[in-house]
This record gives sequence, C-alpha cells and structure tokens, in this order.
Amino acid sequence: MDARIQTVSVDKLANVAADALVLVLAGDSAPAQLDPAIAQALKLALKLGDFDWKAGKATTLVGATGVKPARLVLSAAGKPALKSAKAALLAGLAQLKGRNVTHVAVAFVGFGTVDAALAEHAVLAAREQSYLYRHTKPSASSDPRPTKLTLLVDKADTRAARVGLERGLAIGEGIELARELANRPGNYCTPTHLADCARDMGRKHGLKVEVLDKKAVERLGMGAFLAVSQGGEEPLRFIVARYDGAARTQAPVVLVGKGITFDTGGISLKPGAEMDEMKYDMGGAASVLGALRAVVELKPKINLVVLIPACENMPSGTAVKPGDVVTSMSGQTIEILNTDAEGRLILCDALTYAERFKPSVVVDVATLTGACVIALGGVRSGMYASDDALATALSTAGDEALDPCWRMPLDDEYEEGLKTHFADVANVGSRAGGSITAAMFLKRFTKAYRWAHLDIAGTAWKGGAAKGATGRPVGLLTHFLLAQVA
Ligand code: BES
Ligand code: MN
Ligand code: ZN
Repeated sequence: MDARIQTVSVDKLANVAADALVLVLAGDSAPAQLDPAIAQALKLALKLGDFDWKAGKATTLVGATGVKPARLVLSAAGKPALKSAKAALLAGLAQLKGRNVTHVAVAFVGFGTVDAALAEHAVLAAREQSYLYRHTKPSASSDPRPTKLTLLVDKADTRAARVGLERGLAIGEGIELARELANRPGNYCTPTHLADCARDMGRKHGLKVEVLDKKAVERLGMGAFLAVSQGGEEPLRFIVARYDGAARTQAPVVLVGKGITFDTGGISLKPGAEMDEMKYDMGGAASVLGALRAVVELKPKINLVVLIPACENMPSGTAVKPGDVVTSMSGQTIEILNTDAEGRLILCDALTYAERFKPSVVVDVATLTGACVIALGGVRSGMYASDDALATALSTAGDEALDPCWRMPLDDEYEEGLKTHFADVANVGSRAGGSITAAMFLKRFTKAYRWAHLDIAGTAWKGGAAKGATGRPVGLLTHFLLAQVA
C-alpha cells in the first residue's frame, strides 16, 4: 500500500484530490471550523436521516456540492478513542467495497490531535480492508481495491503522524504475511514452504536463517518434536532466524511459533467437521514470521531470534500411539496420552533449544487449545507469564496494538493432572482448565529464562462469513519488541 501524509487544515478538507474522502467523526456535532462544503453535506445527510452520530453509522454521499472527491463517506466513531476511531474507519472503508476506488483520503474530525497511534491504526485499517487472498484462487475478484491512502492531518500533527504511518506500514506488512501464510492450505503451506519463506526474508533483509532437517533434529535429541512428525510423509523443518539490531553482548528476545501445518489429531483423530480449519494450526509460526517482517522494516536496536518447529500431525502406521513415551531434548520423558495435544510436544523441544541463546525473554505463540477458545473467545488471546513485569509489558503491547490479551493463572496446583506412573510428565490432564494445563506443561521446559506463552487458538482466525486468518498477534508482538529497545 502506498500511504502518505498530507497537511490540510480542517476548513479545507473538501479540496483534496482522491477518489473518495472518508471522514471519521467523533462526538455528536461538527466542529465550527469544518470545511463549509462538507458541513453543508453533513447537515443535509443528518436532516434526511442518512446519517446520525451513533457509533457504527456510516454513509456515502456521491457528488456533494463543492466537495472535490466524487464520494464523501461519513462514519461516526462515537467516543474520540483509538479503538472507536479504527472501527469507524473500517466501517467507512467498507462503504467503498465494490466501487471504483483506488485512492482514499482519510481525515479524523473531532479527535483533537492525530497522534502516532491514530496514524498507525489508520494505515492498518486500510491495509486490512484491501487484503485479498489469491494464492489458490487467482480468479478472486479483480475489482479495484484502495491501493493509495492519503492521511489528512493538521500541520501540528504532521511529525507524529509520519512516525505512526511508518509503524503502521511495517506492522501491516507483517500482519499481511501472517494472514497469507495461515490462509494457504496445508498442501501448499508445508513445513518446507515456511522454511522457504524465512529464507526469502533472510536473503532480502540480511537475516541469518538456518533450517534444520530431520537428521539435525535427531542429533539434537528432540524426541517430542520427532514423535509428532513421525506419522506424516511431509518432511519436518526446524527454522532458526536471527535479526541482529543491537550489540552482540545484548541478550536476545526469542519468539517461538507453533508450526503444525495441518493437525488431524493423529491417532487421537479429530472429528471430521470443520477439520479444514486445522490448516491454521501454524498461526503461531505465521505470527512470529510476521513480527520479524515488521522488525526488519523498522530496524529497532534489539536482537531477536525466531524459532519455528514445523511439521504435520498425521495418523498412519508409523504414527505415535497413545501411551507411547518419548524423551524430550530436556531429558524429561513424556507419556503421550493424547496425540492431539501435539503443539506442546513440538514447542517443549523448541523451548529447550532456546536456552542456547541465553535469552532476555522467550515468548511462545501457539494455536494451542480449544479450551482457550471457550475461555476467551475471539477477542483476547490467552497470556501466561512467569514474571509480572513481562505480563504487564505484553498486556500494554496488546492494548496499544488493539490486539489485546488477558493474563491467565499458572498456580502449581494446575500441574497435578499431568502426573503419570510411566514418565516424568503426561502431555494431557483432565478436560478442566485445558488451556492452563497446556501452559503448565510448557512451563516445565522454561526454567532457564523469563518466559511467556500466548494461546491464540481463538484469535488467529475467524470462522463464519469472514472466514480466514486475522494476522494476530503480529501487532502485539511488534509493539512488545519495539518496547524492548534499551
Ligand atoms: N490445534 C489444536 C487446538 C485448537 C483447537 C486450535 C480448536 C483452534 C481451534 C490442538 O493441537 C489441540 O488439538 N488441542 C487439544 C488438546 C486436548 C487433546 C488436550 C484440544 O484443545 O482439544
Ligand atoms: Mn491437536
Ligand atoms: Zn494443534
């Protein structure tokens, strides 16, 4: 997306050059200084009942007198807050779908200043609306989508808006990468495909990317990861990507993403209904690659390592069986009571591998449990942290990014259910508190560093009419990483 800032005062908005002008209006009356032509059109729309000030209301006026852009979209935000501004902009942009609009100008009216955060989310909203999945459907609608965004701001806001615009473009790039990868079906988005994507990014942006195959993973002793992969024909990959933006002496942040490119459940086979959605089970991997994509754009002074264990979870004659005991890279033995609890098995070995980087913090991201979907739905990701400061940092990042999470508990008592006579730990407990016991399992492998876990099973994609990947939590992760700059 081509995005830029244009300095215009609120009394001259009608003169901008664009196919459409979207006005996001906060409050319940127009400011006195508002451009007279626009004020006139607004007054008429209110009088005719085509528009009102209720948040969520949006309408398109065509050919308004004295307004240069052919379409004037009015969208009511209600409160002058970041979240309502973004929602109203999305509603405004939705008005333009299917119309011949490629260049959109956007102005926020009644919000006081346009700060960096508002500019960032304006860009993100525009990108979100213009994304279209095409990889396996090249015939997908070819109607013009907005490709050019002009954000109209007051002179005093220009500098802050520029900072926000750059951030929005970078995060938008990351979100789009994560959406695209997660939307690609399992027969396209294989472990090898994820590795190629990381390598590509490495080549283009000067990252160190290393891809380990089965032999290398065997040498490392990743018995849990190997057990999950052994049922499938598709070769596993363990991806290591490094961004060095700070001195060598600075401890890196390590992000770990679950990369199950298809989860059938294995021998503990899932029911058939909606099993196609298990192509999204690499949403964690997609999001850490997305965050990396934003980071290479913004170049913060941090060191970052991205780790992705990637494989399929398939049933077959060679698949791991319920009751099998495997030895993880940490040396702990694991009784695999349910082969569908595979995410934690591939993650635990990646978490042990992370130790070698002597990280300042490790955050893993995974579509880990259906129980988290039951607990938090699609609004907030489940967040677990071994440290309060880290939990606060992740919450704040989520709020800033409008990609929120909610802290969940890690009391020792939740570990009871994972006890077994036959190994150091079982991979499942009882159904109760399923997202928490999954996190307790992971916690056993994170003794060497500060650690957090994001369960994104409910937030990484949407079902229903707008079925598809959301690109979450790329925004949260990127804001968290930017806040790590010393
Ligand atoms: N990938 C699933 C979790 C999932 C379920 C994500 C639904 C999104 C929507 C995970 O591998 C899984 O199957 N978890 C099991 C764990 C259970 C066997 C303890 C689950 O949640 O049912
Ligand atoms: Mn599973
Ligand atoms: Zn899974």
